[in-house]
Amino acid sequence: MRIEEKKLAEIVGELTLDKEQLREIACALRFDMELALQGREASMPMLCSYIGMPSGQESGEFLALDFGGTNLRAELIRLKGGSQYEIVRIVARPLVTEEYNLVNGSASREQVFDFIADMFAELLEGMEHSTYYLGHTFSFPSKQTDIYNARLLVWTKEFAIPGVEGEVVNDLLAEAFARKGLDNIRIAAVINDTVAELLAAGYCWPDTQIGSIYATGSNNCYMERSAYVNRPAAIINMESGSFDKLAPSRWDVMLDKTSEKPGRQRLEKMVSGRYMGELLSLIVQDLLGLPERPGFTAIDMSGIMSDDTAAAGAAGKIISGRIGALEPGEAACIRDVTEAIAIRSARLVAASYAGILWHLSGAGQIAPQHIAIDGSVYEYMPHIKENLQKGLYEVLGEEAAAVTPMLLKGGSGLGAAIAAAVASKEL
Ligand code: BGC
Repeated sequence: MRIEEKKLAEIVGELTLDKEQLREIACALRFDMELALQGREASMPMLCSYIGMPSGQESGEFLALDFGGTNLRAELIRLKGGSQYEIVRIVARPLVTEEYNLVNGSASREQVFDFIADMFAELLEGMEHSTYYLGHTFSFPSKQTDIYNARLLVWTKEFAIPGVEGEVVNDLLAEAFARKGLDNIRIAAVINDTVAELLAAGYCWPDTQIGSIYATGSNNCYMERSAYVNRPAAIINMESGSFDKLAPSRWDVMLDKTSEKPGRQRLEKMVSGRYMGELLSLIVQDLLGLPERPGFTAIDMSGIMSDDTAAAGAAGKIISGRIGALEPGEAACIRDVTEAIAIRSARLVAASYAGILWHLSGAGQIAPQHIAIDGSVYEYMPHIKENLQKGLYEVLGEEAAAVTPMLLKGGSGLGAAIAAAVASKEL
């Protein structure tokens, strides 16, 4: 075997965060949140979303656009009030296929927004006579001045569509609708996907105060009711993926340096699906002295960890598919590294929840509540759910019993429809 036991133990050790480190990270995150809320320098921007929690009684048919994950989704959603809803129609397309790539800068911004407009033309075929309000879930850091106007601050998740940073994204979308003659669509609202998740959760579980995405990207939002923000209660999109009071490993530093935006999104680069496979690739390259960086993905990681046999035969197949033949024992060692990356990710996300819960509870007890989470990493990756829960107990102690993390799927669409319902009342 090419792997020295000592080196493996060192790597796993470097990726392991103990209880004390987790508590420190949670404290630092709360501190950073509160600095930003006071308008002081901090690593997270804490962006106001200009919307509060829904009543659950919102009703009517609304369009929803989900832009920012792996797929683009155009939906027509019927809100029935009483926390009930139905997806009437949906058109979904990947952002990247073998034939085209809408994210890496090879397509112009007009091409990207026209692609979206075409999806709505398809969605509304035969329904051109009715007018619809649209809610736009745009999953990138954006500076809002009201529920419609959001300027993209900076692309994340390695997106690089030219000419969008600094622009009001809803205006770009409206221009594309106009080019395609879709004059029956009125864009009413734009929200982050975490905000959409929280709105969707508020429609079903009214005790929810935190919305979280744990997927290609990573971010949290929460309902801010205190006087920190100089305006009525509103959901704050934290952009917690940009939190940086962390203890990065050598490979985190390396990954950051070669990324599209070095220095940014440091927490996201340690926890999210877009980056975990790259981290594994860097470490395996180092561990085996490989000339090239292998191309592991988060999906590979899930496959590797799904094999819990001692021989790690199925895991070995996935690994050798990326790096060629393995020697006996190597697959199990690489699985150990994979697990260490996934467990660290779950514990860091738990620390971020703990920081927010402390902020929300102030000097009092943590109130009983759900945390609404959506995303492929949370849903599918082995070891994530139980380590997140364990991390919460390590940081919060018995108070963690008040908190129930829950998977809520499809929040991006439902939340966008709710935002459109709320915003269209004011139009
Ligand atoms: C973005 C956030 C988004 C998260 C999850 C991050 O890269 O900056 O706005 O909520 O991904 O999609």
